[in-house]
Amino acid sequence: MDKLLMMCMATVMVFITVMFCKSWKKKRMRGRRRSQLPRGSLGWPFIGETLEFMSCAYSPCPERFMEKRRIMHGKVFKSHIFGSPTIVSTEAEVNRFILQSDASIFVPSYPKSLTELMGKSSILSINGSLQRRVHGLIGAFLKSSSLKAQITLDMHNYLKASMACWKDDRLIYIQDETKHMVFEVLVKGLIGLQPGDEMQFLKQQFREFIAGLISLPVKLPGTRLYRSLQAKKRMVMLVRNIIQDKRRSRGCNPRDVIDVLLHDSSNQLTDDLISDNIIDLMIPGEDSVPMLMTLAIKYLSDCPLALQQLEEESMQLKRRKSLLGEDLCWTDYMSLAFTQNVIMETLRMGNIILGVMRKAMKDVAINGYFIPKGWCVFAYFRSVHLDENHYGDPYSFNPWRWKDKDIAACSFTPFGGGQRLCPGLDLARLKASIFLHHMVTSFTWVAEEDHVVNFPTVRMKNKMPVRVARKKSSAGQGERSGCTTVGERKQRIHIQCLDSQRL
Ligand code: HEM
Repeated sequence: MDKLLMMCMATVMVFITVMFCKSWKKKRMRGRRRSQLPRGSLGWPFIGETLEFMSCAYSPCPERFMEKRRIMHGKVFKSHIFGSPTIVSTEAEVNRFILQSDASIFVPSYPKSLTELMGKSSILSINGSLQRRVHGLIGAFLKSSSLKAQITLDMHNYLKASMACWKDDRLIYIQDETKHMVFEVLVKGLIGLQPGDEMQFLKQQFREFIAGLISLPVKLPGTRLYRSLQAKKRMVMLVRNIIQDKRRSRGCNPRDVIDVLLHDSSNQLTDDLISDNIIDLMIPGEDSVPMLMTLAIKYLSDCPLALQQLEEESMQLKRRKSLLGEDLCWTDYMSLAFTQNVIMETLRMGNIILGVMRKAMKDVAINGYFIPKGWCVFAYFRSVHLDENHYGDPYSFNPWRWKDKDIAACSFTPFGGGQRLCPGLDLARLKASIFLHHMVTSFTWVAEEDHVVNFPTVRMKNKMPVRVARKKSSAGQGERSGCTTVGERKQRIHIQCLDSQRL
């Protein structure tokens, strides 16, 4: 009996010792890994370093926040912004790892006002197989040649009608013009809505909605967030009615994104999910794509040599197509090599999406940096795109740098990457190419002074005013671009240097 008792006690002792050793080892590992936390400061209690981040982001020198910390702590550092302890990465390889990781490692994490407004079923909030399914369906439709052909036709019609009203020597606000155009054309592709009263209503509600995306997370009547949520409710009602009409009269060939999502056989896509995602998809129509076009006009206006080369390329295409008696199709626009380089350089310098935010689902180690479970990570693209180790003379607009550059490199991520790579990237490039082609073949312009504001979203302070003049013979000989800005004089000094890079 004593022997048995002794054996039991010995077994218990061994068990306890093993458990103790295991937990001690785990704690020691954790302690060691925690000591690998990137350097940096968590700032003030509660607010952390948010105020400093925001005041720099608003200022004409938005790099200050990141640069100061990069110098003090390195390219990956810890901070506390938007209410969470956050690891900020300005290193291309770490950003690539974050983008390539699936939902078992990182999930999207955005400020509360943004997730409230997007809704639980938004593609930006869902994860795993449902996100992959919705992404796949939307992506396949947005990449389809039938949609690209439709968008090209709609843009031609829209541009023809609106540019016909542009009078010589009048100020045109490029930011407003492009917003109207892209929104209407995109919404037609998303929900099949034609221009008219409903489109106007949607546009108004959408403006109210988008204004609250980055706001205080307070939902009381009268607050910014509350008004935006009310506007979203009204939009959802409109989209729901369209969904119900479509459910009643379902055709065979999907003609817009609602049709595509309704045709899905998985039964996972509820009306809530469809309407939340349709509204998400309108954001690039009001914001990212118009900004791409507006910034391209800004940078081209400041760089006459690039404008001239882009114009020559477009005039050549126009002449060739008119000799053949053909209209331009979407593949023609995408074949404009220099125009595509201008778009890439605009994306690099403009950083329309500053970066993406994720939350770690478990402890993660990347390139020797430790990210504890529950912490946020901010993969900050802007610093990488403006890093002179990746792009020589990073603040000068130089579309020629893209001539032989590998765009698949992990240092260029304006559209994100991995499973959440933007499904609208081709469409964004196509729309920008069409707009630029029509601008340079139909008009010359003189840009007024304006500058870029980077926060909370990228925009032009004065909406990018330009004084336009219609070209005498837009199908004839390419004329010298009429771009003269304050920047032009300065720019001429750089031209020789750019020219030598081109050669
Ligand atoms: C200049 C224009 C655009 C830029 C710079 C841009 C940028 C981005 C970026 C960086 C992401 C990744 C977000 C993340 O990883 O969390 C993204 C995702 C997304 N974009 Fe775009 N985008 C543009 C245009 C468009 C257009 C035209 C559409 C469609 C109409 C679109 C639809 C989407 C959707 C649905 C996602 C979410 C994908 C997912 O989470 O699975 N974007 N975009």
